[in-house]
Amino acid sequence: VTDKDLIGLAREAKKNSYCPYSAFAVGAAIECEDGTVYTGTNVENKSFGATICAEAVALTSAVADGHRSFRRIAIISDDIQYCYPCGSCRQLLTEFSPDLEVLSCRSTDGYVSYRLRELLPKAFEYRS
Ligand code: THU
Repeated sequence: VTDKDLIGLAREAKKNSYCPYSAFAVGAAIECEDGTVYTGTNVENKSFGATICAEAVALTSAVADGHRSFRRIAIISDDIQYCYPCGSCRQLLTEFSPDLEVLSCRSTDGYVSYRLRELLPKAFEYRS
């Protein structure tokens, strides 16, 4: 899929956001190494810390289906600012694909592209 297609899927997923507390809807679409795409949206909770980000939903859905390697992720909100993954999601994504391409989008138009390594340099690592 093209960047535009992936962003369109993230935008679609955003419609299902459950965000009664922040009113900040986020959509994400992750492309696996084989081209399969999974989407996610943020799911909030009365216990705020239990909230799950859109990126985490997309990633864990893909992993649950057997995927372990990813090419790109598109992230979008309704805000005019570029939507970057939070620190925790950067760590989650790094576990599988440190070279992931991150497309951070604005609600109206435009996006910027980064490598995950740039967004989370010197990520936590150890020999397992
Ligand atoms: N959120 C995401 O889904 N992804 C991010 O990268 C940043 C934050 C969600 C969590 C919460 O539901 C809302 O945005 C406001 O923080």
